[in-house]
Amino acid sequence: MLSPALDCYSPLPAASPDAFDFAALRRREFARLDAQGHCYLDYTGSALYGISQLQTHLCLLESGLFGNPHSESKPSQASTRVIEQAREAVLRFLDVDASTHVVCFTANSSAAVKLVAESYPFDSGRHLLLSADNHNSVNGIREYARAAGSTVRTLPLDASLELHEPEQVLRDAATSGTGLLAFPAQSNFSGVRHPLTLVRQAQALGFDVLLDCAAFASSHPLSLRECPTDFAVLSFYKLFGYPTGIGALVMRRESMRRLRRPWFAGGTVRYASVLADTHRLHEGATGFEDGTPDFLGIAALASGFDLLNQVGMARLQQHVAALTAELFARLGSLRHADGAPMIRLYGPARLCARGGTLAFNVFDSRGQLLPCAQVESAADAAGISVRAGCFCNPGASEAAFGAEPGRLIHCLRELDDAFTASRLSACTGTEAGAVRASVGLANNSADLGKLVEFLSVLGTAGKRQTILA
Ligand SMILES: Cc1ncc(COP(=O)(O)O)c(C=O)c1O
Repeated sequence: MLSPALDCYSPLPAASPDAFDFAALRRREFARLDAQGHCYLDYTGSALYGISQLQTHLCLLESGLFGNPHSESKPSQASTRVIEQAREAVLRFLDVDASTHVVCFTANSSAAVKLVAESYPFDSGRHLLLSADNHNSVNGIREYARAAGSTVRTLPLDASLELHEPEQVLRDAATSGTGLLAFPAQSNFSGVRHPLTLVRQAQALGFDVLLDCAAFASSHPLSLRECPTDFAVLSFYKLFGYPTGIGALVMRRESMRRLRRPWFAGGTVRYASVLADTHRLHEGATGFEDGTPDFLGIAALASGFDLLNQVGMARLQQHVAALTAELFARLGSLRHADGAPMIRLYGPARLCARGGTLAFNVFDSRGQLLPCAQVESAADAAGISVRAGCFCNPGASEAAFGAEPGRLIHCLRELDDAFTASRLSACTGTEAGAVRASVGLANNSADLGKLVEFLSVLGTAGKRQTILA
């Protein structure tokens, strides 16, 4: 078990003292896992939905009448009601309310980031600061920033994939202006939880902050009261698996006022005139929600929050921390006959800096790396879901694999249209990717055992030949 004292960045919150029966929850909500003998370890890709969410949603749809919320009829008002209730549920989940914060529903986290990227007042005096560890959906902000004449700076990572002296980088950047800092509360590559204290530090220097909560929020309580980020983004399928296709941009009201939408669409305007060639946006969330929102999907959010509330985010954090500590230790203990480690884990050795995601590579008895894509497909054949590659996070993977910038630039230019991850890897001499195992609500120790047993067999040279054949 992970000691609470080890959980330094985001202290393990006190869970209610009564023990929670995770095994019963698995039988009740996720019986299909054991019925199919499947071991699902891709929670950073997506959470799994509980069966009660589907039942509640179906019941609501069977009995309800929901119309386009932009109409005025009773079915339309019913849709407006569920949307407004869902906004309140999101705010409650994030420990704030509508007096200070606004929830805009989007298609996913990427769309939420893009709303900020296209609306933020970048100019030559306002920088963009990106942690090297960012999902591409956040890295893409740099295209808007550069087009507006901003400079783009990077907060580098150290050897353990944690941010290297971020306060100093912020202070240096602040000498020539302010702007927007964007970083993930938890890395989707390494599972590193970056310090949330950075939010207030950046704000004290005059920066706005976009906190990518996509990977973090599924297994940690998150209080936007305590961590007053200007913009927070998340995807609901990562919290509770269903529905897909809905995310949110949660903004402090005062920060929202700094954004300038570059266009308008159906649903976002109080009026638009063709003859007068003018328009006026709605204030608040609806001014950012292009077109008809997914009102039937949004109606399903309540049952997802119900599932998380049954467990409690504090208890869920402890469950995930305990599983992560166990998997970390068991992977680290896998050895070849000569004592050489079978697994290279990326990221910090300190469990306190990690969430429920572990990225690693597997080595055979001759010290040869087993290509991650082949590990992934062999795992899949064995009924284990993990993910392989760089997980849309080039900065963290480049740091993990020790990419040399000059060589990387040369290889990317050289490969040009012929780019593939394996050709790049052959050119740079670094790994092409890693394997990622990530845990969540439905997992148990037996799932970890299945993965560890599989890797231990795979790591032997004989098995490698079978797999690569
Ligand atoms: C940390 C992080 N940020 C952003 C995203 C993008 O989320 P989405 O694909 O739902 O837009 C992901 C998805 O994996 C993620 O893990």
